[in-house]
Amino acid sequence: MNIVVLTGSPHKKGTSALLADEFVRGAKQAGHKVLRFDAAFEKVKPCKACDHCRRHNGECTHNDAMEDLNPGLIGADLVVFVTPLYYFGMTAQLKRVVDRFYAINAALRSAPKRAMLLATGADDEAPAMEALVGHYRAICRYLGWKDAGAVLALGVGVRKDIEQTAFPQQAYELGASL
Ligand SMILES: Cc1cc2nc3c(=O)[nH]c(=O)nc-3n(C[C@H](O)[C@H](O)[C@H](O)COP(=O)(O)O)c2cc1C
Repeated sequence: MNIVVLTGSPHKKGTSALLADEFVRGAKQAGHKVLRFDAAFEKVKPCKACDHCRRHNGECTHNDAMEDLNPGLIGADLVVFVTPLYYFGMTAQLKRVVDRFYAINAALRSAPKRAMLLATGADDEAPAMEALVGHYRAICRYLGWKDAGAVLALGVGVRKDIEQTAFPQQAYELGASL
């Protein structure tokens, strides 16, 4: 299976990076091919809504890392969104990537895919993730992608918090179970 993992945190050794690391470890052990795209460390410009892509068969006027990512995204069987909660949603770094899906909507919608969500947040009350999960589900519905699972790690503000929980193991098992 071809898997694309999109991460959104600016922390290379943060809480959500650990979930991504463990998921990727499990998925690779299970024999899958993983393309990881750490959005915070890539050059991705925000969509400027010029609609050039609508008039030019998906071609974007931006010349950046999305050019490398797009073929992997289109060919993926599974797309995994990994983000810390930022004001109840995904980070701007990851949202920039999602907005750029716009140029290749048709290709993304025509190839059946599964999706997963791995998220972390400092709050420890379940409603903290509601808006993020709602947004993720709306994206899946719009693109015709099937939700295939999630790890929602609440109560983890920093790396040492999450290291003491079962969430990394859950992320590993999600990857290994594919
Ligand atoms: C700008 C910003 C906004 C945040 N908003 C939330 C929030 O709405 N809910 C929450 O539980 N944690 C919030 N946090 C805390 C982070 O989600 C939390 O520390 C997370 O573990 C960081 O993940 P990372 O180490 O992968 O970057 C916020 C942190 C920042 C910097």
